[in-house]
Amino acid sequence: MTDAPVVSRRSPAVRRSLASLLPEFPWDTLADVTALARSHPHGIVNLSVGTPVDPVADVIRDALAAASAQPGYPTTVGTPELRAAAVGALARRYGIGGLDDRSILPVIGTKEVIAWLPTLLALGPDDLVVIPELAYPTYEVGALLAGCRTLRADGVSRVGPERASLMFVNSPSNPSGRVLGVAHLRKVVEWARERGTIVVSDECYLGLTWEGRAVSILDDEVCGGDTTGLLAVHSLSKTSNLASYRAGFVAGDPALVAELLAVRKHAGMMVPLPVQAAMTAALSDDDHENVQRERYRDRRTALAAAVVAAGFTIDHSEAGLYLWATRGEPCRDTVRWFAERGILVAPGEFYGPDGGTHVRIALTATDERIAAAVARLTV
Ligand SMILES: Cc1ncc(COP(=O)(O)O)c(C=O)c1O
Repeated sequence: MTDAPVVSRRSPAVRRSLASLLPEFPWDTLADVTALARSHPHGIVNLSVGTPVDPVADVIRDALAAASAQPGYPTTVGTPELRAAAVGALARRYGIGGLDDRSILPVIGTKEVIAWLPTLLALGPDDLVVIPELAYPTYEVGALLAGCRTLRADGVSRVGPERASLMFVNSPSNPSGRVLGVAHLRKVVEWARERGTIVVSDECYLGLTWEGRAVSILDDEVCGGDTTGLLAVHSLSKTSNLASYRAGFVAGDPALVAELLAVRKHAGMMVPLPVQAAMTAALSDDDHENVQRERYRDRRTALAAAVVAAGFTIDHSEAGLYLWATRGEPCRDTVRWFAERGILVAPGEFYGPDGGTHVRIALTATDERIAAAVARLTV
């Protein structure tokens, strides 16, 4: 026996890194325009990310604090109170009926479940994942992590004869704020049922609709009361300002929920108990949510007027936390134009090739910072 160090026999070159399969983290490419915006004498107005800035409501913080002395492990399935609160909130806020506690699974923020869903569902290189043409980047990341193929398609006719295993829809959309109507969603569900495609509907902006009506994939009018093959993903980050808590849940087909639960239990993908208590409080109280919605409505009104006055066209944006704006030039030029005024916005190309001439302007800044942006855009 010698004390020689143990050397792995596997050549480092053999190991495939997951990171190498993923695109560059898009926000890292904004370093120079961020520095430019920061150099504004009255400070940066950061409208590039949709991170909440308003306080967490006392009713939620109190619930978190009251649960903070609990030493034991939480359950992956979530407390009965949390699942009941989610069922109640979906019914009250969005008119989604027919769910019960077997239809709900808490997640550690919805980005987590979106990124891992294809993997959790055992999809792989033989599977096609359909994502929106303009899409929150994590749909593609989730498909890449599982080694799946992806196709960008807004309508089912764009998918053609290919059999898709999973389709992500996102209404209201990030980044464009586009809302898909009942007829569109119903067609997606019918198409998916004929092919055995699972539909995952990311509905984190459903409670932030400014014009018209946005409906859930689980709405009776869309799915006819049958949730088979359907999952809705709901985040508490935006509606309840809980981005820092990492709080969301999946709702829908009990068989899919049970499958996800079985894997997540083994993998330790459980929501901390104090956060589950905070979520329960948030989902049981609509007042704080209504207050927050009105804050965003006012910011949207002020900012939209200034963006239009500055010569931009706003497309869609009938819901959600963003203005999807263009003046027909490459998006990086527009990003620089805003940065010269101390305002940081996101280039549309982050969300897909169709976003090349748009920028995404977030409504998630304080009233004071929104007023500063309005002033800079209207001089
Ligand atoms: C469309 C969409 N889905 C999911 C998320 C992730 O939300 P969270 O992980 O905070 O629940 C975001 C966040 O911006 C989003 O815009």
